[in-house]
Amino acid sequence: MKSRPIGIFDSGVGGLTVLRQIQNIIPREDIIYFGDTARVPYGNKSKQTVIKFSAENAHFLAKRKVKMIIVACNTSSSLSLEHLRGVFDIPIVGVIEAGVSMALQVSHSMRIGVIGTKSTIASESYQKEIRKMNRSAKLYSSSCPLFVPLVEEGILHGKVVNEVIRMYLRDFKTRKIDTLILGCTHYPLLKPEIADYLKGITIVDSANAVAQYTKSILTEQRLLNDQKEQGREEFYVSDEPEGFKRLAKLFLKRKIPNPELTNA
Ligand code: DGL
Repeated sequence: MKSRPIGIFDSGVGGLTVLRQIQNIIPREDIIYFGDTARVPYGNKSKQTVIKFSAENAHFLAKRKVKMIIVACNTSSSLSLEHLRGVFDIPIVGVIEAGVSMALQVSHSMRIGVIGTKSTIASESYQKEIRKMNRSAKLYSSSCPLFVPLVEEGILHGKVVNEVIRMYLRDFKTRKIDTLILGCTHYPLLKPEIADYLKGITIVDSANAVAQYTKSILTEQRLLNDQKEQGREEFYVSDEPEGFKRLAKLFLKRKIPNPELTNA
């Protein structure tokens, strides 16, 4: 079981922020990554649709005998985690729980902000998770739908980015939050700009949080891979691999092996 790969899926390329953190924190793990590039974005789709797509993605990974599945997509984690946990008997890790627990650890004032896609924010998944862990914490949320296309166009700095950040995050300045959760796979690429606009506020990146969380689960269940060499990686996509490969370079700052096209 230990030597089996970890499966990661996302609606597309964004989950590579999670893959990157996993490889930093547990570099000996083999990883199979699936990006549902034919059906991205998930961020404005209904719960029913996101559950259907997520279950198909998880089946694809389960068939490849992964020891656990990380749902890197915040929208899938928000809408489909419960469903997936009911269907699969391997650990299914989402990004919401990890992000919230890290935010609660670093916040002093317990006034926390979260930003994500429309469907993530509408699902109130972060609100529900916070309520479970700390009833007195206050959460302020906002959706930032233009961030994903900006990142996918490689527009990470400059006038347009600063203007969009100001438009979406202005209200957080008056809400006196001390911590902001980046509740979407793409937002870590805008982290320097966001941190610069919200000076003094701690930014929690859920990709990093979920990687720490994954390590603790694998350690607890004695499932950490103990191979000597660096883990291998395989990439699968549901639409043409070239576009994914190009964007992957932006997310990972390195080339990836050729992704394989699959219709799952
Ligand atoms: N992966 C999605 C998320 O983290 C963002 C992209 C999309 O809308 O599919 O919510």
